[in-house]
Amino acid sequence: MFPDRIFSGMRPTGSLHLGHYHGVLKNWIKLQSEYPCFFCVVDLHALTTHYETPDIIEKNVWEVLIDWLASGIDPAQATLFIQSHVQEHAELSLLLGMSTPLGWLERVPTYKEQIEKLHDKDLDTYGFFGYPVLMAADILLYRASLVPVGEDQVPHVEITREIARRFNYLYGREPGFEDKANEAARKLGGKRSKLYHELRNAYQQEGNEEALEQARALLQESQSLLMSDRERLFGYLEGSRKIILVEPQVMLTEASRMPGLNGQKMSKSYSNMIGLRENKVSIEKKIHKMPTDSARARRSDPGDPNKCPVWRLHQAYTNPATHEWVWRICRNAEAGCLECKQPVIDSILLEQQQMLERAQKYIDDSSLLRAIVADGCDKARKLAYETMRDVREAMGISYS
Ligand code: TYM
Repeated sequence: MFPDRIFSGMRPTGSLHLGHYHGVLKNWIKLQSEYPCFFCVVDLHALTTHYETPDIIEKNVWEVLIDWLASGIDPAQATLFIQSHVQEHAELSLLLGMSTPLGWLERVPTYKEQIEKLHDKDLDTYGFFGYPVLMAADILLYRASLVPVGEDQVPHVEITREIARRFNYLYGREPGFEDKANEAARKLGGKRSKLYHELRNAYQQEGNEEALEQARALLQESQSLLMSDRERLFGYLEGSRKIILVEPQVMLTEASRMPGLNGQKMSKSYSNMIGLRENKVSIEKKIHKMPTDSARARRSDPGDPNKCPVWRLHQAYTNPATHEWVWRICRNAEAGCLECKQPVIDSILLEQQQMLERAQKYIDDSSLLRAIVADGCDKARKLAYETMRDVREAMGISYS
């Protein structure tokens, strides 16, 4: 119904780390040449946890943007923008909140986890509780079909799907829907209209998923349809409602839960991260200090890579020949842990070199960043405007 579109975001609460890169940014870089991509610095989300220290957010908005560009996000291909600069995020969040049951929010696993993890902050707030609604608004505002994120965000995308489904159910109703849908089907032309009805019957009566896919493709190809007729026909295919907001799918990378220096998920709040643009000496020091399999107290003690966080970094960073070498030297105690760590350090520094070069241009001239964001915000606002027009109309608040 709507063209495939990508949306994702990151909170500007600190500089990005290798978990962001391997966990998510690699997907973004791949997707940017395949689909229209909207990548958003979600400063309003950062405020839900850092409302007492907004200065941290301001600084990091620009740092995150530089990190993205340093990793290879190309502003000529992807739209990069700042959440609070597109006011429709706040508006849609408020409107979606009207129909989101409290129980759905209470059940989001990250809610309790974050409160425990960030115990030094008072997160007993309305804003923090409503975090998933704001995140749903981000995604639904762009009618994104795919959301590339790390594993921890999967429950948020799930609840986004539920919120969209509920919205379509509540507001996709219109008087005479069936007649209007049949009228719209006639506009497809005799043959196509007949095929549409056949495929719809096959799906609705026999649950034939293939027929559903074929019917969707048929509508996708029918470019001359008006948007309102298209919404009706997509909705009629599956039920008796228009589809106003699109249910997104999640997309994960292989390292969707990239471990940090202690084997736990890499995260600023676990103090186990390596920054994307962290300096060489600090990276070396952190990796030298990394714990390894505790059975290897001495160089002559054999170890088990599966019990070692350094092995997890090898998996992300080094090649199969090195992996074989790691297993041999560890199992047979042929070399020490420091030697085993060196190829990881070398690979991280090598990967980082190009990032540092790309970042320099934006560090030297911050007006480049501001121009990218201004352009990105303009593009984002156009789509946001269209969605909000349909949302307001569907909810019956577009009085004139
Ligand atoms: P945030 O800012 O915590 O993290 C940004 C993205 O990085 C991923 N990530 C990781 N992936 C793998 N391994 C790791 N160690 C690792 N650490 C972080 C996160 O899963 C995330 O995808 N709620 C979101 C921000 C957000 C958003 C959105 C995302 C707001 N609105 C709409 C997508 C769509 C968050 O807190 O991400």
